[in-house]
Amino acid sequence: EPAKTLYEAAGGAPTIARLVEAFYRRVAEDPVLRPLFPDDFTEVKARQTRFLTQFFGGPPLYTEQYGHPMLRYRHLRFRITPKHAEAWLACMSAAMQETGITGPLYDAMFERLKRTAYHMVNTPDEDA
Ligand code: HEM
Repeated sequence: EPAKTLYEAAGGAPTIARLVEAFYRRVAEDPVLRPLFPDDFTEVKARQTRFLTQFFGGPPLYTEQYGHPMLRYRHLRFRITPKHAEAWLACMSAAMQETGITGPLYDAMFERLKRTAYHMVNTPDEDA
């Protein structure tokens, strides 16, 4: 029997849906991140739900709908500093805990998100 993906271990689609809700609820209240996002989170939530599904080994829903993620490229229109990456990861960490993702599963998922978040950084901190 093949090893479970992180997506399956986390509980699949219902877990990703709850995680995305919990995450953008925090982003919408975050003073560092809020200014980068549009008023309406509907579209970005739909895209992120599809992305995280495939990122954690579930069906390739993002690519099916929007093509290759090219994630760093898609973030280049925003000035993303290390401070933004930290704020993003803090919102995600809290959202994961709210969703009940804990222990080794949390560690494995968070590690991947952390690497990706710092990969999105394209601008030095303002005071650097
Ligand atoms: C889109 C910010 C990291 C996944 C976006 C958007 C912003 C943003 C402002 C566009 C919202 C809009 O449509 O107007 C950031 C910041 C990050 C970060 C500040 C800090 C490092 C990440 C990470 C991931 C991710 C780590 C995945 C693990 C996505 C996805 C989209 C997106 C999938 C939609 C892309 C598209 O289809 O155009 N992000 N992001 N982001 N972000 Fe991030």
